[in-house]
Amino acid sequence: MSTIKNICCIGAGYVGGPTMAVIAHKCPDIKVTIVDLNAERIAAWNDEDVNNIPIYEPGLAEIVASARGRNLFFSTDIDKAIDEAEMIFISVNTPTKTYGVGKGMAADLKYIELCARQIAAVAKNNKIVVEKSTLPVRTAEALKNILDNTGNGVKFQILSNPEFLAEGTAVQDLLSPDRVLIGGGTDAEGQVAIKALVDVYANWIPSERILTTNVWSSELSKLTANAFLAQRVSSINAMSELCEKTGADVEEVARAIGMDSRIGSKFLKASVGFGGSCFQKDILNLVYIAKSYGLSEVADYWEQVIIMNDHQKKRFASNIVRTLYNTVSGKKIAFLGWAFKKDTNDTRESAAIYVADDLLFEQANIAVYDPKVKSETVYRDLDYLGTRGSAENKENVSVFNDPYGACKDAHAIAVLTEWDEFKSYDWQKIYDNMKKPAFIFDGRKILDGSKLQQIGFIFSEIGK
Ligand code: UDX
Ligand code: ADP
Repeated sequence: MSTIKNICCIGAGYVGGPTMAVIAHKCPDIKVTIVDLNAERIAAWNDEDVNNIPIYEPGLAEIVASARGRNLFFSTDIDKAIDEAEMIFISVNTPTKTYGVGKGMAADLKYIELCARQIAAVAKNNKIVVEKSTLPVRTAEALKNILDNTGNGVKFQILSNPEFLAEGTAVQDLLSPDRVLIGGGTDAEGQVAIKALVDVYANWIPSERILTTNVWSSELSKLTANAFLAQRVSSINAMSELCEKTGADVEEVARAIGMDSRIGSKFLKASVGFGGSCFQKDILNLVYIAKSYGLSEVADYWEQVIIMNDHQKKRFASNIVRTLYNTVSGKKIAFLGWAFKKDTNDTRESAAIYVADDLLFEQANIAVYDPKVKSETVYRDLDYLGTRGSAENKENVSVFNDPYGACKDAHAIAVLTEWDEFKSYDWQKIYDNMKKPAFIFDGRKILDGSKLQQIGFIFSEIGK
């Protein structure tokens, strides 16, 4: 039985929101309060219509509906939630640093540190603090230093409990994870804290899937898992370019190697490049850590995964330009998909942003349709790159609510996200309304190329 009755989670984002909703859903006797500085986000989580919660994940609205107001609460009163909780999860963002030492590589820990200082200022009794955000190795130590130096006699135990959920399948991943990893202190008090968190998960996860380690192994395992996964995508993407030159088909190659049980079939889908908030950030962080220990070969090895990914995005864009007779200036290019993968409204590091940026350099007009991404997000993503003014982005990029409008009068269509609905469009109708010759560049390998060619499209896809 779990001894914990009151949990607070700082950060109501893609990690904190779904994770805590599932804990509340599965542990009705634990009160779970998710707090965030962002009042608008909290208001959206509390929206009467549960379909308006700020994160789109299949099945999440139902889980939130089942627990919200019962034992799941969303609030901006951070101090109160910290004060009441026995266990505090930190799920705030840890973006790559954009300034100072480690710029462009190291994780920016300022949000984490702010949380630690706030916990230290508010806490009146002993607490277990759980790192949920992906953090550099030895962050727990820094957290402990801040927390232990408050002088008010409160004792803190720090646990690392990295989240392995993937967006788009978050609810399923949380309900039935391959494993839950909990790192903690090796002394008696550390073990008690670990047990308290194990007991929370044991409400629905079989004990053999709950793994306990020391804090540093746990922190490094998360970075390692993401680095390995991203490396597989970059490896198959490297092969995709070779396939295009040699007449091999990357899908056939992936199937052939995936049947080797030592290699396995997952994460071998060639694409326009991986995106998401984790892969690039975590690898850069790993590279930074390796460099800071003087391990330049280790750093270079992992950096190559990012270099390959950037190359894949670039060559997708340049292939479009080359195929459209070396100019896209003034041409309408329809983007199907803006999210970094299907079944999420998250666009962080999405390949679409970088492909759009390259095509905008070539003076293309871009028309975006994504079933879940709002127009503000598309403009914000482009503006954030800082490559051109916001007015210019607005002028050359339009965002549509329907795919047929986006594709009307387009010279070419580029598929950037693998949304299922793209497969079942009326492609004849789309073709009839496009400029001819009508091109499709399938960056996700989801469309039926031969059917589209029969309609009259000039079709190309990655790795074939
Ligand atoms: C990832 C990890 O999978 C997850 O365990 C961790 O907690 C967070 O980072 P996420 O970024 O949500 O999850 O999505 P993921 O499914 O891993 O996909 C990442 C990117 O790789 C996406 O852009 C996806 O389209 C791309 N990808 C993935 C491929 O291009 N090919 C593949 O075969 C798999
Ligand atoms: P992730 O994908 O890691 O969940 P998000 O950016 O979606 O990242 O969510 C992180 C959330 O953490 C944001 O909603 C942000 O407002 C919140 N946040 C950041 N710093 C703090 C803080 N000191 N106190 C409370 N909330 C914070």
